[in-house]
Amino acid sequence: MTVIRAVKGTRDILPDEVAVWQRIEAAARALFARYGYREIRTPIFEETELFARGIGTDTDIVGKEMYTFDDHGASLTLRPEATAGIVRSVIENNLVNTDPALKVYALGPMFRRERPQKGRYRQFHQVDVEAFGLTRPAIDAEMVEMALGYLEACGLKSYELVLNSVGDAKCRPAYVETLRAALRPQASRLCPDCQRRTETNPLRVLDCKVPEDQPVIEALPRIADHLCAECRDHFAEVTRELGLLGIPYRLNHRLVRGLDYYTRTTFEVTSDALGAQNSVLGGGRYDGLVSALGGPDISGIGFALGMERLVLILPVPEGEPRCDVFLMPLEDAALDETLRLQRALRGAGLRVLMDPEGRSFKARLRLADKLGARYVAIRGEDERRKGVWSVRDMKGSAQEDVAESRVAEHLTERIHG
Ligand code: HAM
Repeated sequence: MTVIRAVKGTRDILPDEVAVWQRIEAAARALFARYGYREIRTPIFEETELFARGIGTDTDIVGKEMYTFDDHGASLTLRPEATAGIVRSVIENNLVNTDPALKVYALGPMFRRERPQKGRYRQFHQVDVEAFGLTRPAIDAEMVEMALGYLEACGLKSYELVLNSVGDAKCRPAYVETLRAALRPQASRLCPDCQRRTETNPLRVLDCKVPEDQPVIEALPRIADHLCAECRDHFAEVTRELGLLGIPYRLNHRLVRGLDYYTRTTFEVTSDALGAQNSVLGGGRYDGLVSALGGPDISGIGFALGMERLVLILPVPEGEPRCDVFLMPLEDAALDETLRLQRALRGAGLRVLMDPEGRSFKARLRLADKLGARYVAIRGEDERRKGVWSVRDMKGSAQEDVAESRVAEHLTERIHG
């Protein structure tokens, strides 16, 4: 029979790996709560139109990476990112009416049909954070500070913060035209993608990684020189506040990001340990998105972190012990007593395992050791006659008899200290 394998670009998170996932999920919940964020859970699929309008039809994501399917005449898409769905929910449920400074986060799978490689999958997971209705630079700085605090809380030591401002609806259109005008005479020297982007979305040219295109791109006009006064002041204040908080950053005028909704501040955190897909998290401000999706004219800002990428670069944790007490009935007559003790200990909060298959004494001890058991409790013919359990401390190998009536209490005290 042929074996069915996981779909290309998807991966299982196996029991041996899951501890680190649970740790970074718990760290997100604990840290974000300190900044006033609450969790939101939105559907995995949405109307295709939401992503087309939200992310932009000229982006790689919408142009070629979405998992779109027909559902009896409706075009639906597996979410390639979380922001558009959250904005839809905020509008649909009037969330900003009840909370003018709404802060939410979400965890979950996203889907993009990209070419799989290290750190790039077709189903991957994001930790996503969004804040609405906050216009001042202080929230930009706080967002960045929280993102880095999260990485530190997860145990990441080495990374780089990269910043840019991409202007707003007032100043960016003129910059895009300046860019297009500078690109057109040189377009024939660029890769086919950039030739197309020169007309459709010249900002995307700044993202190009093709080595031969780099001399042309480096010489293009820079957005920092074309920001309006408001955008320039906003960005200056963001960087001033980051300086005040002691947060180092590098400015990169080419950081435009792969989604069209950004305005003003954009940021990314990269890690050398990742290789080609070096972005651990990315985000920015999106002041026009809520109104573009039919909502009120309120600002938004957020970021998303790739959980697979973070897990790849975190130190590998030691295997966690899975068992406090391992029970060993050595004869059939000990089974009833074992089941009662097992239930009592689990009720007291201990992790209790036994081997219901009746393997040899030695094999069971090896299993107890592998599971990381602190104590093994043995009940054989001898123990039954004496009315005791023989309790072995797996650390020091000391063994003592404990009366049947006291054994649950004895083990609970030892484990809980
Ligand atoms: P993004 O830059 O497309 O932004 O994705 C954010 C992060 O998701 C990336 O930095 C990366 O770590 C991870 N990621 C993206 N694609 C893949 C993939 N194929 N495999 C593994 N990891 C991946 C967004 O998604 C925006 N919604 C972020 C945002 C929220 N901006 C404002 N609010």
